[in-house]
Amino acid sequence: MDDGILSVTASALWLMLPAYIANPTAAFFGGERFGKVVPLDMGKTIHGKRILGDGKTVRGTASGLACGILTAVLQTEATRYLGTGAFVAFPPAAMICMPAGALLGDMAKSFLKRRLGYERGAALLLADQLDFVAGAWALTYIFARGWFEAVFSFPVVIVVLIVTPLLHRLTNKLGYMIKVKKEPW
Ligand code: CTP
Ligand code: MG
Repeated sequence: MDDGILSVTASALWLMLPAYIANPTAAFFGGERFGKVVPLDMGKTIHGKRILGDGKTVRGTASGLACGILTAVLQTEATRYLGTGAFVAFPPAAMICMPAGALLGDMAKSFLKRRLGYERGAALLLADQLDFVAGAWALTYIFARGWFEAVFSFPVVIVVLIVTPLLHRLTNKLGYMIKVKKEPW
């Protein structure tokens, strides 16, 4: 892999795609447009506050996970035709851990928000932009460490940390415009 800024950025986007797909598809499928909404925490509370809140649903989480895994599977299939370079294959553990970790990171943030007494939908600077990156990396580091260390070079990590908040702002504004999200963050 060469170190040009373009190829590093291409690697960063390629590697993060299954994680990037998970949360927006959870938002798309999790809402009321597809019928009854079942919150993941089943309405349970800790010290009078919801564990996760109504913003984390069974259908949204399952859909986000399925779409993220599907993305990684298709990417891996596509590497046969795209050759080497930025387009690396995902081992099965990474296919699951990147999207699952992204969703878990987002959930951990909701858990924290509820403990702090924030309403559903309240903004939490930086955590909103990088929660899912931290989750995806943590889970993948645990279950696919060899692959993680081989593909997430230092320059790739830096580009992910810079590009993700920008992409996040863009997609959330879009999600807000098409009414998938209630707030533009
Ligand atoms: N969503 C879901 N399941 C998830 C994540 C998101 O169903 N695991 C859906 C919910 O309908 C949620 C919407 O996507 O309302 C937007 O997600 P997000 O902004 O993460 O949730 P918030 O509603 O803002 O709630 P919170 O304050 O807990 O982040
Ligand atoms: Mg939100």
